[in-house]
Amino acid sequence: MNPPIPTKILGIETSCDDTAVSLVEASGGLNKPSFKILAQAVSSQTEIHCPWGGVVPSLAKREHAKNIVPLLAQVLSQAKVIENGKNKLGKKTIEQIQELLTRENDLAEVLITFLEEHKVPSIDAIAVTAGPGLEPALWVGINLAQALSLAWEKPLIPANHMEGHLISPLLTNPKKVPFPAIGLLVSGGHTELILIKKWGQYKILGHTRDDAAGEAFDKVARILGLPYPGGPAVSQLALLFDENNPYNFKLPRPMLRTDNYDFSFSGLKTAVLYTAKEIAPLDKAKKIALAWEFEQATAEVLTTKAFKAVKNFKAKTLIVGGGVMANQILREKLKAKNENLSTPIEILWPIKDHATDNASMIAGAGYLKLAKTRKPNKNIRAKGQWAIDTSF
Ligand code: KG4
Ligand code: ZN
Repeated sequence: MNPPIPTKILGIETSCDDTAVSLVEASGGLNKPSFKILAQAVSSQTEIHCPWGGVVPSLAKREHAKNIVPLLAQVLSQAKVIENGKNKLGKKTIEQIQELLTRENDLAEVLITFLEEHKVPSIDAIAVTAGPGLEPALWVGINLAQALSLAWEKPLIPANHMEGHLISPLLTNPKKVPFPAIGLLVSGGHTELILIKKWGQYKILGHTRDDAAGEAFDKVARILGLPYPGGPAVSQLALLFDENNPYNFKLPRPMLRTDNYDFSFSGLKTAVLYTAKEIAPLDKAKKIALAWEFEQATAEVLTTKAFKAVKNFKAKTLIVGGGVMANQILREKLKAKNENLSTPIEILWPIKDHATDNASMIAGAGYLKLAKTRKPNKNIRAKGQWAIDTSF
């Protein structure tokens, strides 16, 4: 049941604080999905949310609505699949688009102008993140995708954001993945271990019981007086730790030895807070030592649990993804643990730009869904808590 020919899929991602559009040519079906990125663009909202120390959903929604059509125009023209030219929309189509985008301020007007000034692009389908994520933000992408699908008469596919993260290593490294595989997805909103029997067949083995690992990085950054997003800031500081640092703080490794695949990072963050209070005032050397120990603790727990799952499910591959996977220490710990196995397995890493949110991974997840179900979907709803194992 593989789509027989290469399929050009437009991906749209607005689940959190990055607005992203991409055009991907996919082929190979579920058996050996392969992707070629024709053009992609991301507009980050980091500076907008930075003063609040985290993502503000109403601001995210507003920024997505402002940025999405310019990004769409940029990607389609870079991929050379769209031409300028008159494309008069019918009155009914215009009314339907206005109704779909009624809550997105000026978006309907901007989109209708764009549609009427360009011919229908040569693409095959539109995939949009339907969840998980912030619902107000998700709706912007969904409503835009529904409007495009209507105007261009292209099939619409709801894509699962976490499945997108899972396929992200394949965007630059097309290969047949040996299964079963374990997926370790670690982002600002999620920390999950997933058993992948094959593409399209997932079981969540465990997840965080409180904060996601990325969220913990962001909160620890705040404690240390560092900017949002905290991951890059904390790890840059931790890099400065060396043997001349006089401090050697000890933080807990929550749930390291528990008999399950769950995580908990809230206690670790609180331990950082208490330590910071105890040793106040914080100078640079103390901050460096605390950042280093926090990063070590987080990476150790993630690595240990991931390889526990690899061992117990006899996995042949470990697939990692999500923003926290940009972390060098975590990458090094995973590599070192793997090299110590009697038979190391293959670890599939996304490039750093694909570890964080992007729309190429959404086009890829949409392709898998199309290859598996062959059913486009007209009425997509935002599903803030959409678990990957219910995505088919
Ligand atoms: O996947 P992502 O871009 O967005 C979500 O879906 O959440 O992940 C963002 C998270 C943020 O919490 C950020 O602090 C974290 O990834 N992050 C990092 C690093 N770069 C980004 N965490 C640790 N080390 C990094 N180098
Ligand atoms: Zn993400």
